[in-house]
Amino acid sequence: MKNILCIGAGYVGGPTMAVIADRCPDLTVTVVDINAVRIAAWNSDELPIYEPGLDEVVKRCRGRNLFYSTDIPKAIREADLIFVSVNTPTKTFGAGAGKAADLQYLEKTARSIIEHAESDKIVVEKSTLPVRTAQAMSRILHSNTKNLKFQILSNPEFLAEGTAIRDLENPDRVLIGGMETPEGQGAIEALASIYARWVPRERIITTNLWSSELTKLVSNALLAQRVSSVNSISALCEKTEANIDEVTGAAGKDSRIGPKFLKASIGFGGSCFKKDILNLVYLCGHYGLPEVADYWEQVIKMNDFQARRFVGNMLAAMFNTVADKKIAIFGFAFKADTGDTRESPACAVCLQLLEEHARLNIHDPKALGNAKLDLEGVAGDISYLEDPYEAAKGVHAIAVVTEWKSFRELDYQRIYDSMEKPAFLFDGRNILDHKMLFEIGFNVYPIGKRKLTHF
Ligand SMILES: NC(=O)c1ccc[n+]([C@@H]2O[C@H](COP(=O)([O-])OP(=O)(O)OC[C@H]3O[C@@H](n4cnc5c(N)ncnc54)[C@H](O)[C@@H]3O)[C@@H](O)[C@H]2O)c1
Repeated sequence: MKNILCIGAGYVGGPTMAVIADRCPDLTVTVVDINAVRIAAWNSDELPIYEPGLDEVVKRCRGRNLFYSTDIPKAIREADLIFVSVNTPTKTFGAGAGKAADLQYLEKTARSIIEHAESDKIVVEKSTLPVRTAQAMSRILHSNTKNLKFQILSNPEFLAEGTAIRDLENPDRVLIGGMETPEGQGAIEALASIYARWVPRERIITTNLWSSELTKLVSNALLAQRVSSVNSISALCEKTEANIDEVTGAAGKDSRIGPKFLKASIGFGGSCFKKDILNLVYLCGHYGLPEVADYWEQVIKMNDFQARRFVGNMLAAMFNTVADKKIAIFGFAFKADTGDTRESPACAVCLQLLEEHARLNIHDPKALGNAKLDLEGVAGDISYLEDPYEAAKGVHAIAVVTEWKSFRELDYQRIYDSMEKPAFLFDGRNILDHKMLFEIGFNVYPIGKRKLTHF
């Protein structure tokens, strides 16, 4: 095992392979993509994604044993083990549109492997996939006419954007699923021995293929379910003067529940949670389990409701109209420490405010480029501002929609002085000091907590 290839140089393929190259200097790691612009960016000083710590790892390895390339045929020919890390978005057409995973990129990758391969290989599903995809992968790969043999493994990625390097360097677990045959077990061991260079053996879990494929969908579903559960209760807190942080703080002390992922917010975003739950919902329907499908679909419905509820609260607070009012949107990334805006609740909030004819000043430390792309062609008055103080100047309200640490460090007295009065602040992430803001003069609307107003 000498040459490792990853097909797909995205948010997963790029950082994951950088860490493997860093930890395994004796391996040659190549990352390829059909997107030449993306590969050029990986080879430049301006990497295509923002991720804390990523620049340093890439700079240490690039040109040494880490290569980003568009020469897919050569890379496939030379590879012993191929990670497939292409995108698997929700289908937008045909059967299963809006729920099922679109596997066309995965299938094209498999066909490209059999076209160019000249020797047997291990092919690793790194992308998140519907359970039993490995069966289809195996059938496509073994339709080759060169008598080549492929071992398919499932090795889903559990990194979270914003903490990807930390997660990759110190993962809670690495999951590898393979066939329950001697060849399958040999392939599992070959991949496990790569991770074992830096991950303790007891954190490398091996299972059958189907358990591994399904575990990734279930992990994301369980995480998203916690967010939706807490957010549903935040709505009840606002009606009853219970405080969501007090409720989750006390509930989370139960070791069976635990404290993590219990923060109320305007909702989850990102490319994975929604798409993976929709995929789970689709699979449950496909396997004749409509009650199970309905149960998980509710997690998505609650998430959409929370963003709508946030905008509804803004409207109600601002005298039932935001038409022609300027509103500063603090944050557009789906979470802090990333420039990724895919499925960001910020986008849903902005679109609803624009429908109400609000004028928006959007500020984000890393995501303004993606925000512009997301809102391209959308009707309305939208400005994009690098400087938060400029973004807040003359506005009627500020909506905090991403939990960037920098938002906590701003001079809110200065911001308040520059705003229209009465000044409103809607904290969609509960990250600011609400009492201090109220004392400055803001009317403050947290999530799941009593509002602090001067009326
Ligand atoms: N983003 C995350 O946080 C995350 C975490 C865990 C798992 N995943 C899963 O990993 C997979 C990849 O996610 P991502 O966020 O990196 O996606 P991405 O869109 O950022 O990257 C995918 C890349 O694959 C390339 N690609 C598509 N078809 C190709 C082909 N035939 N040949 C070569 N390259 C091709 C695309 O050009 C793109 O650059 C998805 O299945 C996703 O669900 C993502």
